[in-house]
Amino acid sequence: MLQIYQPEQDHGTRAVTAERSVSLTVDGLSVDVPTGSSVMRAARLAGIKVPKLCATDTLEATGSCRICLVEIAGRKGYPASCTTPVEEGMQVLTQTPTLAKLRRGVMELYISDHPLDCLTCPTNGDCELQDTAGEVGLREVRYDDEGANHLQAEKDTSNPYFTFDPSKCIVCSRCVHACEETQGTFALTIDNRGFDSKVSVGGGEFFDSDCVSCGACVSACPTAALTENSIIEQGTPEHSVVTTCAYCGVGCGFRAELRGNTVVRMSPWKEGRANEGHACVKGRFAFGYANHPDRITTPMVRDRIDQPWREVSWDEAVTFAASRFRDIQEQYGRNSIGAISSSRCTNEEVYLVQKLVRAGFGNNNIDTCARVCHSPTGFGLKQTMGESAGTQTFDSVDEADVIVVIGANPTEAHPVFGSRLKKRLRQGAGLIVIDPRRIELIDAPHIHADFHLPVNPGANVAVLNAMAHVIVTSGLHDEGFIEQRCETVAFTEWLKFITSVENSPEHLADASGVDPQELRQAARLYATAENGAIYYGLGVTEHSQGSTGVMAIANLAMLTGNVGRIGVGVNPLRGQNNVQGSCDMGSFPHELPGYRHISNAETRSLFESEWGIKLDSEPGLRIPNMFDAAVEGQFRGLYCQGEDVAQSDPNTQHVEHALGSLDCLVVQDLFLNETAKFAHVFLPGASFLEKDGTFTNAERRISRVRRVMPPLSGKADWEATIAFADALGCPMDYNHPAEVMEEIARLTPTFEGVNYALLDELGSLQWPCNNDAPEGTPIMHVDEFVRGKGYFAITEYVPTDERVNRRFPLLLTTGRILSQYNVGAQTRRTDNSAWHAEDVLEIHAHDAEERGIKNGDRVSITSRMGRTELHAAISERVRPGVVYTTFHHPDSRANVVTTDLSDWATNCPEYKVTAVEIRKVQERSQIRGRG
Ligand code: SF4
Ligand code: SF4
Ligand code: SF4
Ligand code: FES
Repeated sequence: MLQIYQPEQDHGTRAVTAERSVSLTVDGLSVDVPTGSSVMRAARLAGIKVPKLCATDTLEATGSCRICLVEIAGRKGYPASCTTPVEEGMQVLTQTPTLAKLRRGVMELYISDHPLDCLTCPTNGDCELQDTAGEVGLREVRYDDEGANHLQAEKDTSNPYFTFDPSKCIVCSRCVHACEETQGTFALTIDNRGFDSKVSVGGGEFFDSDCVSCGACVSACPTAALTENSIIEQGTPEHSVVTTCAYCGVGCGFRAELRGNTVVRMSPWKEGRANEGHACVKGRFAFGYANHPDRITTPMVRDRIDQPWREVSWDEAVTFAASRFRDIQEQYGRNSIGAISSSRCTNEEVYLVQKLVRAGFGNNNIDTCARVCHSPTGFGLKQTMGESAGTQTFDSVDEADVIVVIGANPTEAHPVFGSRLKKRLRQGAGLIVIDPRRIELIDAPHIHADFHLPVNPGANVAVLNAMAHVIVTSGLHDEGFIEQRCETVAFTEWLKFITSVENSPEHLADASGVDPQELRQAARLYATAENGAIYYGLGVTEHSQGSTGVMAIANLAMLTGNVGRIGVGVNPLRGQNNVQGSCDMGSFPHELPGYRHISNAETRSLFESEWGIKLDSEPGLRIPNMFDAAVEGQFRGLYCQGEDVAQSDPNTQHVEHALGSLDCLVVQDLFLNETAKFAHVFLPGASFLEKDGTFTNAERRISRVRRVMPPLSGKADWEATIAFADALGCPMDYNHPAEVMEEIARLTPTFEGVNYALLDELGSLQWPCNNDAPEGTPIMHVDEFVRGKGYFAITEYVPTDERVNRRFPLLLTTGRILSQYNVGAQTRRTDNSAWHAEDVLEIHAHDAEERGIKNGDRVSITSRMGRTELHAAISERVRPGVVYTTFHHPDSRANVVTTDLSDWATNCPEYKVTAVEIRKVQERSQIRGRG
């Protein structure tokens, strides 16, 4: 899919979907377009380009520049084609001598106040103003630059990724509208009127404004007024490759735009179904880590971890690793080694790692980092609905009337979906936020949550049960849906449970921390919505009752009939780019690809005949069990691909003890991470720009990842795994990841119809994809649940064992910030650190004052497990009794204090609840206050 660089097609105004169409002629050509389309779009569809400046097909047309004028038979004047809707039988002329003269006149005024430095302008050849001047035939400008103009206006270079040059601004307002409509941040305005009008970022500079650097204004700008610094520094692209973002589970499509092998811009892809041309600061700008000097590009080995690394060839590295692994197995048995696959790697790579373990190691000791984030989603949704995945597409939110966001912070962690959600909320959908913290969504521009239920960390199940209790006891449940679609016996049992007084909001108020009246009203709002949708994240799953929380969410959705159509559903917002995919691909120790239990002989025989081996029918070790067994000396070899467990997993001391006990740790990563400190073999990883494959996002959408540049180490990750497998005597014969996907499709019913040709044709598709759904399945459980009847699970609220007391009186909870990603290995190696150079501890003014802590003070955080230090930020976002931090920086050592409590069903760690005490320590540093 390497293409000579061409800007993406711009049809001028938005596409309209309407059942009826209208026939008209444009310059004598007949065209049929949906009712409500603009004349400009109709002309484009007829193959005629009307010159334009202020219109673009990602935004509502405003009709301000007056370049796109047309003549319409029977109408007076010259209407703007971008704002004039088509009518049946309309006869439009786009090229007449009068129109040409009018357009030239308008264009001349624009150009007279624009620097004529096209040859040295960074967007020369990629500028709509330049193109339009040519299209209208402007050959001379009668006004000189002596009169009043803006040619000397000062540039704003405060943003690390783009520059605002007001001298090149034509005040078309596209940037302002992009910030409002697409991003929902409202950081930009046009100040003043007439000649004095100018784009303003709250009167200051971009960096200090509300701007979140999504780049939507830069993409929308038709001139060089807003330009990526990479384009200014390196020039315009010469070719492009469509690929998928490797950061979060939204899975945005991008055009990687290059000069040679250097990416000069990541342009959000308008045809990307998950993002429709939008992006966030990570995917749009933070790609520089791929060429960071810290990248390790040569394999390395060492006999002991106190020795220096020795650079070796790929052959030597994999032979070294393989012989150590075989020695370990000989001495300590087949089950003494295992692997951890990565949710950042492609489906194909994850599939190969689990195959290596099952076929090469001869055991099922394979687990994935989803263990520590969304494993309860897999379990909870499988139990209740029959499929370990979310039910909707992202665009389903456009039809939701009431939206519940629980334990998720979409504007920080899933920003492109967050913008879509905000748009729906601005259109009037109701919003219930269940979160210990006042997340941005609660009070965003033109958005105010109907209810914020400030749940105590660890008490989600109490709130969800109480909501269900209110719905049932108020008779607001959907009896028809339940009778038709759900298991009667289970529902009857559950009904007895949920209607008991123990589940009333009043009874649970102390535990939940939520006002019973507020909760009652919120429950009624959700239950009475035409379409009610629930979105949740790690704030639900990373608890000792994570799986119970997921099942309680499913119960609420089934109870109200909010499943199986657009606008509703249960929607887990996945953390990393390929969490869904890594789970789908058989990364759990008890499941083969497609969530089929390893104990099932029929499933095993499918894989046994394809792979020519005998599979172990016993589930293998989960990550925490691997660590425990390592400390006990029974587990001695680990292959860890693309995962920094020493930083990301809870109870760091225990993890480090386990890693330090291994006889052979093989780490495959881009950088020498914290885990690599304990490694004996380091295999250089490849960034998403260096390999082919697929990612599966939170919507179950499978999208292509395409190689944009050759792997710096000479091998993509899938090739490294194959080399390791070969060295272990488990040959894998694939020439391209497409062949791996063919095997996945042969063996996995939900992937039966998936292949690269189809993905190229459709752009992306959502599994299940098979004979019944040859182009994929946007919405799950439409007529019946995957498991047949929906299952109401009893979700008793059990408080976590992690309790506050006089010694540890505050509850620490954790989350993410927009500019950083996970353990920060990538984003910390980009200019994103300008916004978040360190993790800080948010503490309420009341708790801070009691401890004599001021904004910026260095504080210690002590839990039952350990102690770390951060700088304090006094914040109204947390309430008294709760403190909050992110965990993007290794220096913060946030996981030194987290406990090893975990979800009862899946062992997902309870990251979100740790009892702590905060004390001021000496040394004061200057950090920005955050409100
Ligand atoms: S900065 Fe660009 S998009 Fe914004 S008003 Fe100026 S020319 Fe238009
Ligand atoms: S980068 Fe995004 S948030 Fe910032 S001004 Fe532009 S559109 Fe608004
Ligand atoms: S929202 Fe997620 S997938 Fe999209 S650009 Fe941002 S990080 Fe990448
Ligand atoms: S493009 Fe239609 S008025 Fe500007």
